[in-house]
Amino acid sequence: MAADSERQVVLITGCSEGGIGHALAVAFAAEGCLVAATSRSLGSMRGLESDPRFFLQELDVVSDESVGRALESVMARFGRIDVLVNNAGVHLVAPLAEAPMPAVEHLFNTNVYGPLRLIQAVVPNMVTRRKGKIVNVGSVTALAPGPWAGAYSAAKAALHAMTDTLRLELKPFGISVINVVPGGIRSNFGEHSMANYSRMPEWKLYKPYEASIRARTAQSQGPRATPAAELAKKTVSVVLKRNPPAWFSYGHLSTIFAIFYHLPLCLRDFVYRKIYKI
Ligand SMILES: NC(=O)c1ccc[n+]([C@@H]2O[C@H](COP(=O)([O-])OP(=O)(O)OC[C@H]3O[C@@H](n4cnc5c(N)ncnc54)[C@H](OP(=O)(O)O)[C@@H]3O)[C@@H](O)[C@H]2O)c1
Repeated sequence: MAADSERQVVLITGCSEGGIGHALAVAFAAEGCLVAATSRSLGSMRGLESDPRFFLQELDVVSDESVGRALESVMARFGRIDVLVNNAGVHLVAPLAEAPMPAVEHLFNTNVYGPLRLIQAVVPNMVTRRKGKIVNVGSVTALAPGPWAGAYSAAKAALHAMTDTLRLELKPFGISVINVVPGGIRSNFGEHSMANYSRMPEWKLYKPYEASIRARTAQSQGPRATPAAELAKKTVSVVLKRNPPAWFSYGHLSTIFAIFYHLPLCLRDFVYRKIYKI
């Protein structure tokens, strides 16, 4: 086993059991990394508690204070962060014209400003060491945004755009930035999305589409969804490369979304209107 000073220190957000972050934590640890696994509550990572490869911390990405506290503990423990993985994210299913603004703001705060908050906190140390990797977990939905999850797609598109800029801006400091773009991955995402949806108001304009809108909450979790562990293993092998690629997309429907991205908009709209009966 390599000395701790030679092992990669990886900080991951949103590591609750059953999700992609948790699977990434396990996969990075399996490759010999020291993993600072974080989530909003330690209780959601209980399965990692007794394993010395994991340093568990509470971290809420919407709170400057929580981010500051968690990073202080990680720096005190390891003295560095080699890889930051911005994985934490929430879903929101609601037609854009009626989506409650507080829910949209919370979504952007979690999925866009959250990663940026972490990046701004971690980058100074990486710059000093002229070394580091930042992984942002995007989504294929940003490639071809369809109905009912418009705010989520917009937030992921914003994250993709920030990732592209950061890759260029951080290159002079020796920091690589990687966009990991999952397709449909089995996790708690659908369950969390449904719980969020149950807090939505009754639709006014979109009442006739209620069944189609509700079904969107579970769309990523069909029987053919890719196991999170499979995505995690592939992602880790890509991220740990000496020269990692700028883009890594993997999982159920990722090829279809890549094709959708290149389709003329009239064709893409035609297909979506058929699928969503809109
Ligand atoms: N599953 C898919 O098909 C899919 C596809 C494309 C992209 N993604 C992206 O993959 C990432 C992981 O999602 P997942 O599929 O693993 O879903 P998940 O099982 O719902 O996990 C989401 C994680 O984010 C955490 N989280 C939410 N708000 C947070 C906050 N304010 N601070 C810190 N952590 C927070 C959750 O914590 P709690 O347990 O405390 O809620 C949970 O640990 C997300 O960015 C998602 O958008 C997923």
